[in-house]
Amino acid sequence: MNLGKNRFVIIIATITAIGGLLFGYDTGVISGAILFIREAFTLSGTAQEIVVSAVLIGAVIGASISGVLADKYGRRIMIILAAIIFGLGAIFTALTPDVYTLIAGRIGVGVAIGMASFIVPLYIAEVAPANIRGALVSLNQLAITVGIVVSYLVNYYFATTGEWRWMLGLAVIPSIILGVGMYFMPPSPRWLYSRGAMDKARSVLERIRMTKNVNDEMKEIRESLICEKECKWGDLLDPVVRPALIVGIGLAIFQQLTGINTVIYYAPTILLFAGLGSAAASILATAGIGVINVLLTIVSILLIDKVGRRPLLLIGLVGMIISLGLLGMAFALPGLSASLGWLAVICLMIYVGSFAIGLGPVFWLMISEIYPLRIRGRAMSIATLANWGFNLLVAITFLSLIQFLGTPGTFWLYSIIGVGAFIFVYALVPETKGKSLEEIEAIWLMGKNPDEIKEKVEK
Ligand code: BGC
Repeated sequence: MNLGKNRFVIIIATITAIGGLLFGYDTGVISGAILFIREAFTLSGTAQEIVVSAVLIGAVIGASISGVLADKYGRRIMIILAAIIFGLGAIFTALTPDVYTLIAGRIGVGVAIGMASFIVPLYIAEVAPANIRGALVSLNQLAITVGIVVSYLVNYYFATTGEWRWMLGLAVIPSIILGVGMYFMPPSPRWLYSRGAMDKARSVLERIRMTKNVNDEMKEIRESLICEKECKWGDLLDPVVRPALIVGIGLAIFQQLTGINTVIYYAPTILLFAGLGSAAASILATAGIGVINVLLTIVSILLIDKVGRRPLLLIGLVGMIISLGLLGMAFALPGLSASLGWLAVICLMIYVGSFAIGLGPVFWLMISEIYPLRIRGRAMSIATLANWGFNLLVAITFLSLIQFLGTPGTFWLYSIIGVGAFIFVYALVPETKGKSLEEIEAIWLMGKNPDEIKEKVEK
């Protein structure tokens, strides 16, 4: 990565990725906080489930409302708005007098997560130069994984005193940094252009590229805006953009249906099933899984602009399919019970590591780069909505699935869905490495089918 020339965009991506940190922190923190919240408000099992999934319901709402707003008011403003909601939500949930306001506050936090989850990658993709776009956008996924680990550590720190209000409230610190930081960031030049502010777009581009020589990029942006009218929802049904929509929604669904959040949200429960008896061992193993998630995301970032998106997706999926199959087997073989706990930990680590190499970062990256500019905000919002909807579905069905299919059956089901994901990626997902957003758009608009696109881009 050429630090000198790209200094400004690296700073922009790093500050913006604090939105990812909040996404990870606020989804991870509840796993520990719920243990004390349920005592504080003497909650039933169902009430606990509602407190835990409130954030996912909010995220579905956030993802569905903010696509239109991001196209209309701009990416930067919407991230500032998300930061404000994150901050208010943290204070509100920390001070909550009863469980009802807690649920309302967590839904609010979820709205901010839903907004940030796609506007952050969208904005970074639109300011990044093509050759390092993969790495910069994936800083968001790295921040998500760091946020998850930080939430585990904060939970661990406050566990002895049970101060769940601090666990929830601490999110106010990154919220302030994100809001203040974004205030100083420039608007997306691509969005400015699409709103008719050509001169402003050029001056932002000159600033962030640190050169006056931006004619080619300006020309590309201009050409991509064949249709300057305001986007309508109907434009999403245009047959030309349909393949991109299918790729985005398919990746969104597979990212969740292959079960990642059963591990992120329920790792200690899974480890308990596996016979890892002591609380200390299960906390340690959970933290280890979180760290593997961070480390393999870094590996992915280093590779993503070199080997490309498709190889990482395919290799990651193979790892997920095999580790899920083995995890199911570990639970199915009673003879192995003595070493079962650690076998399960190893399988979970390979599984999370494989997700972190492929589907984790690549999904968020691809949905930020495959859509034509005029529909980008809305199309990303639909893929994000699908992602959160299926996240919610997996979260609320996991424990029941274990009852109906048994633990081995449940993991085998996720493994089979992984095979479906592999076929989907192999057949339909194009390679976007090294192409400018406008080149990717031009290829879709040529009306090529995804296979041809794949070859075209690989050439
Ligand atoms: C997913 C989240 C998941 C996280 C784990 C993200 O890409 O969208 O649902 O919790 O990765 O690292």
